[in-house]
Amino acid sequence: MYNGQWGFDNLTVQSTGHATMMKTANGDWYASFIARQNINEKAPLGRETFLANVEWRDGWPVFNNGKPILLSEEVEPKSGPKKVPEKWVEKFKGSNWDKAWYQLRTPYTKNYESTQKGLILRPNVFGLSDRDTPVALLRKQTSLNMTFSAEVLGFSGNLGPRNKVGISAYLSEWQHQDIGIRGCVNQTGMCIYTESFKNKTTTYWQTPLPKSDFPRRTLMLHVRCTPLLYQLGYSFRKDAPTYPTNISSFWQAFGPEGYGVFSGASLALFGTGDGEPWPYNAPTVGFSKVTETYFQEDIPGYDRW
Ligand SMILES: *[C@@H]1O[C@H](CO)[C@@H](O)[C@H](O)[C@H]1NC(C)=O
Ligand SMILES: *[C@@H]1O[C@H](CO)[C@@H](O)[C@H](O)[C@H]1NC(C)=O
Ligand SMILES: *[C@@H]1O[C@H](CO)[C@@H](O)[C@H](O)[C@H]1NC(C)=O
Ligand SMILES: *[C@@H]1O[C@H](CO)[C@@H](O)[C@H](O)[C@H]1NC(C)=O
Ligand SMILES: *[C@@H]1O[C@H](CO)[C@@H](O)[C@H](O)[C@H]1NC(C)=O
Repeated sequence: MYNGQWGFDNLTVQSTGHATMMKTANGDWYASFIARQNINEKAPLGRETFLANVEWRDGWPVFNNGKPILLSEEVEPKSGPKKVPEKWVEKFKGSNWDKAWYQLRTPYTKNYESTQKGLILRPNVFGLSDRDTPVALLRKQTSLNMTFSAEVLGFSGNLGPRNKVGISAYLSEWQHQDIGIRGCVNQTGMCIYTESFKNKTTTYWQTPLPKSDFPRRTLMLHVRCTPLLYQLGYSFRKDAPTYPTNISSFWQAFGPEGYGVFSGASLALFGTGDGEPWPYNAPTVGFSKVTETYFQEDIPGYDRW
């Protein structure tokens, strides 16, 4: 099973392997295996699960009739083109949350809770750039064409410059792309900010969060993921989002030189005291709702963009 026969920059599906074979009640054989979808030679989604038909010839398994795995082809029996998944919504009610949420490493304490209003975070000193246990809830990015949107819980009072709450396209402590709200840097009031961490360089942007908008109007934060580009954005209520910051998807697929990272980007909610404990009199922060919207994925069979 070898999709690299024409070189690693030819087909989109690469790194095929780790197959598990199974036989159906009808006697048909299949292999489930993992592979990457290369987008410009980098795989932002990391390893994904695939399925191929298997036949036995002279006691050897032959995958997909000996041909490479192409995204445009279907496993037999054909069931039609891949369907766009329904919109997914999480309101953090009770304990019946989606099982795909996870936290980084092993938190020292439970640092979030579910309330009638939604998810409340209890931020600590750590942030997403620390190799420790930041107060963050993450999910794997599952589509190359989707939007991850989070509705910020309203609060009275002000966040200080070190009090941040936001969302992130996260790969590792080295590579994550954040949008959120905080006390402004070098000026009074609160700001909407973006911060991108790429190969040990940081890019920062902020704009004042008008008192007339927040918390009076619902603030939404968005990560728009497409094959080549991630866009970080915000909107009030049902207005069209503003996207102040773009990042090439390239940055979500590898670590800085000399550092190993897990593959596969995540989408995250976070709150952080940015090196300091969350002040006892700082606002209570969290999110009332998270929505994932999926779009059609037209990914070419050959890695040409
Ligand atoms: C991929 O490799 C095959 C075999 O060498 C070649 O026929 C085909 O043109 C290549 N496709 C692209 C898009 O490079
Ligand atoms: C804040 O001010 C410091 C000192 O002048 C400066 O180095 C830094 O770049 C400023 N940061 C921002 C985001 O404006
Ligand atoms: C990352 O930074 C290192 C050190 O500055 C540099 O050698 C390398 O080329 C950079 N990688 C990319 C992809 O920009
Ligand atoms: C981000 O990318 C989009 C789509 O290519 C483009 O329309 C927009 O101007 C870019 N925004 C910034 C801030 O570069
Ligand atoms: C992503 O979805 C948008 C909206 O439906 C569509 O216009 C675009 O072609 C899609 N991109 C890919 C790569 O499928």
